[in-house]
Amino acid sequence: MLTEKRTLARRVWTVRYPLISALVLAIAVLSAVQSDSSATAQDDAAGPMVLITGANRGLGLEFARQYQAAGYRVIGTARKPEEAKELNALGVRVEQLDVADPKSVAALQSRLSKAPIDILINNAGISGGGGSIAKADLAAIERVLQVNTVGPIRVTQALLPNLQLGGKKIVVSISSGLGSIANNRRGGNYGYRESKAALNMFMRSLAAELKDDGFRCIAMSPGWVRTDMGGSQAPLSPADSIGGMIKVIDSLTKENSGEFFNHDGKKVPW
Ligand SMILES: NC(=O)c1ccc[n+]([C@@H]2O[C@H](COP(=O)([O-])OP(=O)(O)OC[C@H]3O[C@@H](n4cnc5c(N)ncnc54)[C@H](OP(=O)(O)O)[C@@H]3O)[C@@H](O)[C@H]2O)c1
Repeated sequence: MLTEKRTLARRVWTVRYPLISALVLAIAVLSAVQSDSSATAQDDAAGPMVLITGANRGLGLEFARQYQAAGYRVIGTARKPEEAKELNALGVRVEQLDVADPKSVAALQSRLSKAPIDILINNAGISGGGGSIAKADLAAIERVLQVNTVGPIRVTQALLPNLQLGGKKIVVSISSGLGSIANNRRGGNYGYRESKAALNMFMRSLAAELKDDGFRCIAMSPGWVRTDMGGSQAPLSPADSIGGMIKVIDSLTKENSGEFFNHDGKKVPW
């Protein structure tokens, strides 16, 4: 009876005020579409959430591919999302992020609001700086430090509340064998080596600080991999490097938080 009355009232309203009814309907449709313009089909699915920085090419793109295939919900970030064709083609959620730009990081933080994130992969990175001290380019070194060291610190700080809400509480920063102080026999690569050694120290400190909150935080060396950065002579494919790293991440225990792992699971000397 009550339902009939409501239906009748709705009909009367629609007949008497057709313009207002059409407007109300249009506003409802628009706000539903705009409420999350970056939503994808995967947002409705269950599964842990992983956020990967620099996911439009190279190792980041392969991380996105393999995590998606493993049933994860993936947020892949790119400096220019509209140009990230391969990443968009995966159907994952793509978000704008320049790790060296505080405004871009703050905007991502506010878009993600209280979304739980299980795994953060600080992957974005650049090379540059110089091979000999005589020719080292100080401006390039500053830029490398901004992107490779300050960037992961800034992103981790901004997304810590999201990680606290996640079930896995894992932070991985993609370092490099060139960041190992113990293994440095050849020198060179000014800027890049320092940026990764400092990144390693960040991960060690983060692991110690967040230990009692159940976090597992590690630095990883992907090996020498065929990407734009690694070049075509590199012995490892992105698929093999990332496959190995995901295995290591999957089997992390709280005891090995704060360590520096190679893609094959061996520890890298600091
Ligand atoms: N390939 C290797 O052999 C190797 C070895 C050791 C360590 N690594 C490390 O592995 C990570 C990935 O390297 P890769 O080989 O995949 O390199 P890559 O092919 O050159 O890709 C680098 C990625 O980082 C992104 N990026 C650069 N600057 C950024 C910024 N300011 N903000 C956000 N994203 C930024 C790039 O985005 P754009 O397309 O917008 O530039 C791109 O998506 C890096 O941290 C690198 O140091 C690589």
